[in-house]
Amino acid sequence: MSRRRRLYEGKAKVLYEGPEPGTLIQHFKDDATAGNGAKHEVIDGKGVLNNRISEFIFTHLNDLGIPTHFIKRLNMREQLIREVEIIPLEVVVRNVAAGSICTRLGLESGTRLPRSIIEFYYKEDKLNDPIVAEEHITAFGWANPQELDDIMSMAVRINDFLCGMFMAAGIQLVDFKIEMGRLYEEDTMRIVLADEISPDSCRLWDVKTQNKLDKDRFRQDLGGLVDAYREVAQRLGILSEAD
Ligand code: C5P
Repeated sequence: MSRRRRLYEGKAKVLYEGPEPGTLIQHFKDDATAGNGAKHEVIDGKGVLNNRISEFIFTHLNDLGIPTHFIKRLNMREQLIREVEIIPLEVVVRNVAAGSICTRLGLESGTRLPRSIIEFYYKEDKLNDPIVAEEHITAFGWANPQELDDIMSMAVRINDFLCGMFMAAGIQLVDFKIEMGRLYEEDTMRIVLADEISPDSCRLWDVKTQNKLDKDRFRQDLGGLVDAYREVAQRLGILSEAD
């Protein structure tokens, strides 16, 4: 039984009221969904691994001066975060063609893109998160031009850091999705990275074998999802071989 007030329940996470004003608790569930909830399974151990992997990445980003909502991990499944106003965009950065860009543009999966590409999707389940242009974002006021500039430069810096971090672990960062929020502090507001970065929100391919170490194992019924996520955590040095 939980004594905390539940504020929001998403497909893979729950947000609870935090201990101090302006804080929340982000809880990682074991649920995996694909196709906007059309496919659903509970995969024992996924939430614990995503909590650890996301903590590791957000801690490094905070240390690099890329602001995030992350404060600290509380336990196996939960982290303390700052409350932000979520910008209703999914920001996808792609280095190699895979997934929806292949269908949309007729590219072969695995083709290196001429340069990293940033895409925006409007976060609205009812519409299946449609891809949108910067014009839509500013015209509808989801973010103003300055915020959009900040979001894009943060996305590029995050991609640079993650590519290097994963490459050192023998993993190619194919693409990933991030979400941003507005953090209000006294009379200032700044854009910070929110949500999570984990194998649920990235495509990660083993450099040598091209094995998928991400949520495509679930989407494509390949099995072995938890083993793949554990492998990512071990290669990043978050878990030891014995874990
Ligand atoms: O499906 P698509 O190719 O557009 O996904 C691009 C990247 O964004 C993938 O790494 C995928 O895991 C991630 N993504 C996500 N949540 C969504 C849609 C995509 O984490 N709702």
